[in-house]
Amino acid sequence: MLEKIKETADFLKSVMKTQPETAIILGTGLGSLVNEITEKYEVQYKDIPNFPLSTVEGHSGKLIFGKLGSKDIMAMQGRFHYYEGYSMKEVTFPVRVMRELGIKTLFVSNAAGGMNPDFIIGDLMIIKDHINTFPEHPLRGKNIEYGDRFPDMSKAYDPELIAMAKEIAAEKGIRVMEGVYLGTQGPTFETPAEYVMFHRMGGDAVGMSTVPEVIVARHCGIRVFGISVITDLGLEGVVVEVSHEEVQKAADEAQPRMTTIFKELVNRS
Ligand code: HPA
Repeated sequence: MLEKIKETADFLKSVMKTQPETAIILGTGLGSLVNEITEKYEVQYKDIPNFPLSTVEGHSGKLIFGKLGSKDIMAMQGRFHYYEGYSMKEVTFPVRVMRELGIKTLFVSNAAGGMNPDFIIGDLMIIKDHINTFPEHPLRGKNIEYGDRFPDMSKAYDPELIAMAKEIAAEKGIRVMEGVYLGTQGPTFETPAEYVMFHRMGGDAVGMSTVPEVIVARHCGIRVFGISVITDLGLEGVVVEVSHEEVQKAADEAQPRMTTIFKELVNRS
């Protein structure tokens, strides 16, 4: 495993013209951040040794390097989901490669179903904590000496970055909520009873990604910041149908607000 990570990192180092310390996983709702990246150069996932290939609709697979404002960054366009059939080690492989490349801070976005009754569709939720319900743990197995066997998760989402993001949102007049992201395996959206259960468990929003990457990033000592776009609501007593198209539409509508916050935060952090 470590050998594969190093092999991939060595390949990337051989093509990298910059040394970014910031990485961004362009989840749903953050696709248009790509348009803000300057001095861009790209590497297709299919050309990267050991990299999984992304299959889900609306995600194309490549690493994009360049500048966001004045910061050197690397961005993942297309992430790997457990529901696609990848193991947790595959889902999180790119994050371990990031660690080898010298990444210090990771920014993530996702689409999520809101369970907090204060939320409305289109809201941005700064992730303050998460609940892991995935059936496989990304750190299961022999510990890679990037971090402790039993890593601390008390501050998985960096409090300083959260505070900064709230400041930025206030300055720009963007409504932001804050909450707990509950990660579930998918690919089904929740039944009404599951939304109620996940809310009672302490989740404010539920989605099918992010938690594995964040766990591995923290194990690697990488700081993390994340935002969920609330694309649909699963509220107690209200049964609604959810479709992938609706999720995309709500996420697209939230893109400009997401992009503003991330761009500014990356530059201030
Ligand atoms: N549940 C799980 N994942 C999601 C949802 C949801 O309601 N919305 C967007 N991703």
